[in-house]
Amino acid sequence: MRREDFGTDQRGNSVELFTLQNKNGTQAKISTLGAALVSFARKDKTGVLRDVVLGYDKAEDYLSDGSRGYYFGATVGRNANRIANAVITIDGREYALEANSGSNNLHSGSCGVSHRIWEADCLDDERNRVALKCFSADLEQGFPGNMTMKVSYTLTEDDALHIEYEAVSDKDTVANFTNHSYFNLGGHDSGDIGNQKLKIYAKAFTPLTKDTSIPTGEIRPVKGTPLDFTEFKEIGKEIAQDYEQLIYARGYDHNFLLDNDGKTALAAEAACEETGIHLYAYTDCPGVQLYTANFVEEHKGKGGAVYGERHGFCLESQYVPDACHNPQFQTPFLKAGETYRSETVYKLGLDR
Ligand code: BGC
Repeated sequence: MRREDFGTDQRGNSVELFTLQNKNGTQAKISTLGAALVSFARKDKTGVLRDVVLGYDKAEDYLSDGSRGYYFGATVGRNANRIANAVITIDGREYALEANSGSNNLHSGSCGVSHRIWEADCLDDERNRVALKCFSADLEQGFPGNMTMKVSYTLTEDDALHIEYEAVSDKDTVANFTNHSYFNLGGHDSGDIGNQKLKIYAKAFTPLTKDTSIPTGEIRPVKGTPLDFTEFKEIGKEIAQDYEQLIYARGYDHNFLLDNDGKTALAAEAACEETGIHLYAYTDCPGVQLYTANFVEEHKGKGGAVYGERHGFCLESQYVPDACHNPQFQTPFLKAGETYRSETVYKLGLDR
């Protein structure tokens, strides 16, 4: 495992970068800042190593004003996605959160663990695994409970990156972690992802309310809508259709309901004809959010690449957004002393 300097955070604390590599030359780079996946690369069908996630060359770029809200590759917690009106009720008490997306809370607030330095907890060369740890104090970002969270990345010989989360709190709270990688299977620097194909193992999605992007509570079958990815379809094929859900979100920014019974199962696949790179996403979470970088503005990323709108797609495994206010969905509440555990796997295959 390579361990190198990755720059500093806003207080001058050093950030490290760990590189995992397997026998095939597949690589994953993980930064202690936000426990983020900075790079995930495998050989394409011509033997060229392709990095398929968007990111930056140094820690400082992850903290700059323009990029903070993108969460490139970051571990998001304690709660991924939105909480309506930035308030959560736990054990009869209301907790005010930061309203950082209109009147709602998004990804737990602007100074969450996605932008903090995590501590290297366990570096296991033999298993090609790096585990990072972070402590969040009671009422930090408004959430109750002193919480210890861990995330580990393990790169296996079959080119799968296993991401495992664990969290424990001393008070009842919420726990709903995700990884916010933006994939571009043509290479992170290859532009629009519109012609890459996607399949999602979900028969229904949760429509959003206009303007707030909060699920209405409805469970809508994907059949007959542009959100039907039950068979492989180009991401861009119907993205510009005159369908109110796509207009509200400026593209795909929707949660799909998975049918995995809480066990790790295939949630989505994506493929790029030019490189032959094929992504398999597995999770034990009840939902996956497809986000097509609808709000990413033109700016510089890794190695001088220019990133912009639709230059990546995210498959964020998580609970349904705002499920804490919608008891008909599985809710993200965690009891004091109990352990939250969840797993997501991103595997890179090759179509020839
Ligand atoms: C959300 C988007 C948001 C993006 C970047 C996604 O998880 O669903 O609405 O723009 O993250 O913050």
